[in-house]
Amino acid sequence: LEPSTPTESQRNFVKVMKEQGRRCIVFYGSQTGTAEDYAARFVKECKKRYGVNAMAADIEQYDLGYMDALPADHLVVFIMATYGEGEPTDNATELWELLTNDSLEEDAFLFSKEEKPAGDRPLDKVRYAVFGLGNKTYEHYNAVGRLVDQHMQRLGAQRIGERGEGDDDACLEEDFMEWQESLWPAFCQALEVDESNARSGPRQASFLVQEVKDAQSVVYYGELAERFEGSKVVYDAKRPYNAPLTTRELYQQGGDRHCLHMDIDISNTNLIYQTGDHVAVWPTNSEDQVSLLASVLGLSDKLNTVVMVNAIDPTASKQHPFPVPATYNAIFRHYLDVCAIPSRQALLSFVDYAPTDPSKAALLNLASDKDEYRLTVADAVRSLGEVLQYVVGADATGAFASVPFDLIVENLSRLQPRYYSISSSSKECPTTISATAVTLKYNPTPQRTVYGVNTNYLWQIHAHVHHVDDDGQYHPRYTLDGPCGALMAISHVKVPVHVRRSPFKLPRNPALPVIMVGPGTGVAPFRGFVRERALQKKEGKNVGPTLLFYGCQHSQQDFLYADEWPDLFDTLGNDARLITAFSRETPEKVYVQHRLLELGEQIWDYLQRGGYVYVCGDAKNMAREVQQAFVSIAQTHGGKTEDRANAFIKSLRSSGRYQEDVWS
Ligand code: 2AM
Repeated sequence: LEPSTPTESQRNFVKVMKEQGRRCIVFYGSQTGTAEDYAARFVKECKKRYGVNAMAADIEQYDLGYMDALPADHLVVFIMATYGEGEPTDNATELWELLTNDSLEEDAFLFSKEEKPAGDRPLDKVRYAVFGLGNKTYEHYNAVGRLVDQHMQRLGAQRIGERGEGDDDACLEEDFMEWQESLWPAFCQALEVDESNARSGPRQASFLVQEVKDAQSVVYYGELAERFEGSKVVYDAKRPYNAPLTTRELYQQGGDRHCLHMDIDISNTNLIYQTGDHVAVWPTNSEDQVSLLASVLGLSDKLNTVVMVNAIDPTASKQHPFPVPATYNAIFRHYLDVCAIPSRQALLSFVDYAPTDPSKAALLNLASDKDEYRLTVADAVRSLGEVLQYVVGADATGAFASVPFDLIVENLSRLQPRYYSISSSSKECPTTISATAVTLKYNPTPQRTVYGVNTNYLWQIHAHVHHVDDDGQYHPRYTLDGPCGALMAISHVKVPVHVRRSPFKLPRNPALPVIMVGPGTGVAPFRGFVRERALQKKEGKNVGPTLLFYGCQHSQQDFLYADEWPDLFDTLGNDARLITAFSRETPEKVYVQHRLLELGEQIWDYLQRGGYVYVCGDAKNMAREVQQAFVSIAQTHGGKTEDRANAFIKSLRSSGRYQEDVWS
């Protein structure tokens, strides 16, 4: 069976709500699953507190043109994430295009099926609430939530409560909880339920978990999509491709900081990518975290037991949270985000199962006292297993064995893919995707060390298929020349991947000047860009000036792709240059933005000639300071006032000539 696309009648959410007796629909626009989790939590609260049947809905799955048919005593809630530079999530791109389309004809159909007379407000009866998820580090904070709100209002819909906005740079969780709490009075009024009737009755399970004794059918051991027979598989976010992976170490610093270059083989698939896109890699949780949680839950001896997990509500949009039946081991290792910081709401749901009075009190304290929670859980980056172990304070083996497993399923999110900027050129290597990643490790408190889930998983893979020689270097155990110079050492190692399109693209016309700024692993996409321009040059195309500003700590330690640049820039010729900023080789730090200022005159000239600017790497400080450097250049060399210089950079941005691929 092919995964089915919804029929028109299934896309009519008002009809679906009627059939299923739902009075509230919670649309989510979600990229990494947080908005989706919030939507599910909100739905549960509606039921638990007020007995209101609500439903969570992937905004992509429904036709919002039916909005004007929503009865007045119903409610629509939007929980919408914004990511990057004010971009919608993948599942909200259609909505975004609709909302940002300026043409009036389109507007007449917005949220309604029939054209309405001008001046008519088609959503007069509709009530809604909105919570946006964003990050204040970025300029277009919460753009999606704000735009949805604006259009709903303009079309006459009545918002209940305040628009909520969550800041991932501070504490999204607290923002969400506060918004949800503040919404209930208006919610009750809109749905005509008695607020004083709020129940705190027994927990309503969402899933039924059953152990399967003699598994007759397929059992899942970590596959990310349910198996299906049928015609050609289309690999995408819902059905990643298990790709052969080869790795090589680019540098090692301070013992356990490793930088890996990955080559992902996508030949023999229908996967395609373009230079500048992102590759998503689906991680596997670390054995340490898996065994800790299993041990605290008393499941260590049962990891190979097969369980079935079904939604209790037969009309729930997701009947299974992940491919089932599956072993506990697969669920912990591949399906649930066991390393994530649990929410306060999640911790609260475990309090009843704490083994002793002191541990109960300790857990309750963490779940209800914001400051304690922040200090001990959020800032200390403790996983659920670690928090449960912490409150027990002694040997925690089996301490929480009475927790029903469906509570774990409900409170842990699905493990999500990690995205990397692709560092190869699709023109040069159409069937090999390269990516570049540094193993993440940090100390949230002096006593605690936290390892990034995916980069350390990839490092483990690398370390296992290589051996350390006398020189202390890792060498592949077996090698074979693969496409694009990849050493096909380890074709039996596979990782699930998919490709995400990115607007980060070279100008169509290669003759235009290109200025790239990418310190650290921010250089990744520029390896692809530079390789592509060198290839175009070799093909005899007219390739314009190419400047790459790259920064790292030491020329001899963490200089990425140092061996590749000389040939590439030789090929590109006289008006191509790699400009380096080694930050720790001189008493004063030298960063890429300092180098930009030094070459201000040249840069200004390139901008006058239609040049494109690209910035990749840290969003918080680097990208801002780099933008400031461009503003200064426009002042110094373009004779602009500060305001005009800012407006100039803004106009470059809106015309796609100042692009960022940044992360925080
Ligand atoms: P540092 O570690 O010596 O501070 C890649 O991480 C390079 O980016 C390093 O040389 C790092 O320098 C530098 N870097 C750190 N903060 C930066 C900033 N705000 N702007 C530009 N580069 C920065």
